[in-house]
Amino acid sequence: TTPIVRSRAALSARIAEWRKEGATIGVVPTMGALHAGHLSLVRAAQAGAERVIVTLFVNPRQFDVPEDYARYPRTEESDAAILAPLGVDALYVPDPEEVYPPGFATTVSMSGLTDVLCGARRPGHFDGVTTVVTKLFRQTGADRAWFGEKDFQQLRVVQRLSADLDLGVEVIGCPTVREDDGLALSSRNVRLSAAARAVAPVLSGELGTMAAALRTGEAGEAVATEARARLLAAGFSDVEYLDLRATDDLRLLDHAGVPSRLFGAAWIDGVRLIDNVPVT
Ligand code: PAJ
Repeated sequence: TTPIVRSRAALSARIAEWRKEGATIGVVPTMGALHAGHLSLVRAAQAGAERVIVTLFVNPRQFDVPEDYARYPRTEESDAAILAPLGVDALYVPDPEEVYPPGFATTVSMSGLTDVLCGARRPGHFDGVTTVVTKLFRQTGADRAWFGEKDFQQLRVVQRLSADLDLGVEVIGCPTVREDDGLALSSRNVRLSAAARAVAPVLSGELGTMAAALRTGEAGEAVATEARARLLAAGFSDVEYLDLRATDDLRLLDHAGVPSRLFGAAWIDGVRLIDNVPVT
């Protein structure tokens, strides 16, 4: 079984041992409700670092809707069971005061990358992410960290964060793990009704169709207008964005050409789904 660590002091003691051995340390930050997407990050981390810490902390500061925080799945026991066969070196489940002690008053805030896509739609979300990731990187002292392309904007933001604040963590991205029908795995998928679950893969399907059209030179806006209509017809209640953006700085593009990705966010049955695919 994976050793569960709940205090900074206990974590520091372990890290000091590993440092004495000269081991490299990898971290995989999560909010739990672990699925195969998370496990792919853990395996990549084990291949790329000698000691691996998985963190599990449902970070209140990154939820823009209180109800979403209240409803977020909390399944520590089954998470520990799922991790057990992988032989991770520690599961860090910090007590909330270890992350946000009384009097905590600092926010790490980024401009630019966080102003678009989910940043424009979820006020305060990325402040919460950059703040907690800074804390987790400092507390774990990791050399490297693994993040999923599922949340591609978050991946870019965390890479920028580590560089800007000299956190010294190399941030590595891993491909999105999907269900057989294309739906990107997400801890929030459990909230989908059977009917919504049946429609949900239309989002990744449309992103694939759009990406193919963009590769033939079609304009982003025209392609998005058609896809938006098809998503609404399929049963999505709202389409937040279907944007073609540059892979490096996430600036909006009219046409594919430079390395680019397509980003989508849409609501179905009260659940917000996000996904993205590479274009060129
Ligand atoms: P969480 O949503 O639990 O995701 C943890 C990590 O798993 C993130 O890097 C995310 O991109 C990755 N991930 C989620 N679904 C994936 C999938 N289908 N395929 C591949 N990777 C996937 O993202 C967070 O937590 C939080 O914002 C966190 C970084 C922990 C800060 O609180």
